[in-house]
Amino acid sequence: MKFGYFDDQNKEYVITTPKTPLPWINYLGSNDFFSLISNTAGGYSFYKDAKLLRITRYRYNNVPADTNGKYFYIKDGDTVWNPGWQPVKTELDSYECRHGIGYSKWDSSKNGVNAKVLAFVPTDDTCEINRVVLTNNSSETKELKLFSYVEWCLWNADDDMKNFQRNFSTGEVEIIGSTIYHKTEYRERRNHYAIYSVNAPIDGFDTSRDAFLGAYHDNHDPEVVFNGKCTGSEAHGWSPVAVHQINITLNPGESKSFIFVLGYCENPVDQKWESKNVVNKAPANAMLAKYKTDADVDAAFAKLNAYWDDLLSIYTVESNNDKVNRMVNIWNQYQCMVTFNMSRSASYYESGIGRGMGFRDSNQDLLGFVHLIPERARERIIDIASTQFQNGSAYHQYQPLTKRGNSDIGSGFNDDPLWLIAGTSAYVRETGDISILKETVPYDNDMSVATTLMEHLKRSFDFTVNNKGPHGLPLIGRADWNDCLNLNCFSEHPGESFQCFGPSEGPVAESVFIAGMFVKYGEEYAQLAELLGDTAEAGRARKEIKIMYDTVLKEGWDGEWFVRAFDAYSNKIGSKECEEGKIFIESNGFCSLAGIGVKEGLAEKALDSVKKYLDCKYGIMILQPAYTVYHLELGEITSYPPGYKENAGIFCHNNPWVSIAETVIGRGDRAFEIYKKTCPAYTEEISEIHKTEPYVYCQMVAGNDAYIPGEGKNSWLTGTAAWTFCNISQYILGVYPTHKGLSVDPCVPHGFGDFKITRKFRGATYHIEVSNPSDVEKGVKELIVDGAHVEGCIIPITEGKTEYNVKVVMG
Ligand code: BGC
Ligand code: NOJ
Repeated sequence: MKFGYFDDQNKEYVITTPKTPLPWINYLGSNDFFSLISNTAGGYSFYKDAKLLRITRYRYNNVPADTNGKYFYIKDGDTVWNPGWQPVKTELDSYECRHGIGYSKWDSSKNGVNAKVLAFVPTDDTCEINRVVLTNNSSETKELKLFSYVEWCLWNADDDMKNFQRNFSTGEVEIIGSTIYHKTEYRERRNHYAIYSVNAPIDGFDTSRDAFLGAYHDNHDPEVVFNGKCTGSEAHGWSPVAVHQINITLNPGESKSFIFVLGYCENPVDQKWESKNVVNKAPANAMLAKYKTDADVDAAFAKLNAYWDDLLSIYTVESNNDKVNRMVNIWNQYQCMVTFNMSRSASYYESGIGRGMGFRDSNQDLLGFVHLIPERARERIIDIASTQFQNGSAYHQYQPLTKRGNSDIGSGFNDDPLWLIAGTSAYVRETGDISILKETVPYDNDMSVATTLMEHLKRSFDFTVNNKGPHGLPLIGRADWNDCLNLNCFSEHPGESFQCFGPSEGPVAESVFIAGMFVKYGEEYAQLAELLGDTAEAGRARKEIKIMYDTVLKEGWDGEWFVRAFDAYSNKIGSKECEEGKIFIESNGFCSLAGIGVKEGLAEKALDSVKKYLDCKYGIMILQPAYTVYHLELGEITSYPPGYKENAGIFCHNNPWVSIAETVIGRGDRAFEIYKKTCPAYTEEISEIHKTEPYVYCQMVAGNDAYIPGEGKNSWLTGTAAWTFCNISQYILGVYPTHKGLSVDPCVPHGFGDFKITRKFRGATYHIEVSNPSDVEKGVKELIVDGAHVEGCIIPITEGKTEYNVKVVMG
């Protein structure tokens, strides 16, 4: 069952009922100012950091769901309604919400009045614009009252929902004309305030939530709206809000437009005040002057659309498969941008106050984003590397505002260092910019011990070399990619952090997955060393990789698949010897994609076992059989009920690893079958089961052991976005950036047909036409670049050339 449809022409998903199974959200903002916005206008805004600079307040896990946002109430006689249906929930005569690329739109009607709302964040400003256009489609004159509503957050979102003894006394506002200034804590250490303004004279305002809602009311029945009259309240403490009232007369056929601006403004410390305790409004005035008219808004909106059209023109495909075209050309890349911006901080399932930027997460996000804005990827790599420790290990997370490592979680996740090689290598392959390797980068933000970035990568590589366990495999530390495989934790008491409890150093548990990573990214490290002319280092690295390769085959092969790990007692995890958790996805996917066991025929065997034991209708489960009891020596993985999350759920993130591995051994049918199972454009059809947004990936889909298999959770912020984009664009469609140029080596299912790809790469545009006359899954029979035959499948780079016409014949 569907709750809307894709409009590919406009790059929008059109939601046709507000009653979606879960809030279906979108993200506004490209740089510093961001908003989360749901199909019923719920959500919140923040500047740079969802924890430290939260602008509007949201209540997670509220009932009914998703009931705080940027609301417009329309009072038409006795009827009060919202264009987004919530929070009043008056049945609408028509409703449509279009989530587009960086904007959302509503088009709703009630009793002959139509409301069109357009919400977006301009590309180069720190504000969100909401344009509300009301039209009277009835034959009578309408006397309407329009009310806006946002509830301010007192900046630090964590403190805001805990420290009521203080917070109920600190709220402060100013009201000047049609602009409400939120200036809580501005009198002390903050140099920033927020504004909510409208480009029309107002007929009333409220800034006290209690005055607006009335005692024991909520935002679904605010007294002020139902009474039709604002009270003019000035908030002192308690909960400040911003409400405008505009009385509107609309003749039959008449429309009126109102532009609301929610903005974030900063002042230099010595220019904070206009007069005693009156904020300096210069930045607010400058911002508001830019969005006075419809033409201003149209221009800013056009700029946003042009910005995205430009970004999305970097990789496009035209194939016979609409779903592939839609995901590759629009939604998958869009989600990659959002995950790059947010890491795992702010979604409807990540509260914005927990995890900042993850070391491994952000590096993986880069893999799907780097072709879009390489300069931002470059900056991110330096930021991430700056939180590395001198021995090559790393802070697991850092705060986006301060860019400092988070010592609460600390370090000891032994896959982390290798992801830095993955991210950097992707950047250098994309751009050819080896200067990044020579940048001076601190350790733990300490410039006095800084080295080149290449030295950071060396320490990443050597961290694995220097931290091996009894089988010669990498020590796992607190956990590897699977945060819940806590083999050194042994936590017995509720509330202890599974990951941080127990020693991170000393214990001997080992990870076969990290071994796979080492082989894959070790080789990418060796290639970077070669690029810098250091063949000795490349040789040394390859020797270490060979040792690891052999160790995996010797110690990590279980007969039909790769073992997952060895626990602290050196018992196997993910082996036929185990009672539960006999086979895991991660080691099989990653070792195979790294090429381990390919020539020995073992990778094929491992992937066959994955299909046999882990596959289900909705994707590949992370492990089987699910753990049914808590194991002290395994940690959080066994804390989840069977079928959920890391305990035998379908963790979408690593499904593409298996799909990529299938392309490595040339099985296009199977690679594509896996791609389809978790792909939103395909799961759209079962939205009533899947529940999450049908235009983006979610982190987890419940596996076969779950109560409702196929139920999705935790949409948007997942490494799935980057990995599936790599899978489809670089492995299945096969256009992969190498140091020497673009390689074209597709691996497609039978019947996929011919296709065209346009790829912008290192200052040139490649027009690539792939034909497949013999309908093979893999193999390049001929590569012709501008009429000339080229050996192999890499398109050589010709300096200064800006257009390449490429023909690839599979066979
Ligand atoms: C989740 C993991 C996540 C971890 C982060 C766990 O509860 O299951 O998916 O990576 O928390 O701390
Ligand atoms: C989500 C985390 O963000 C990611 O870092 C981790 O790899 C996966 N969960 C698997 O545990």
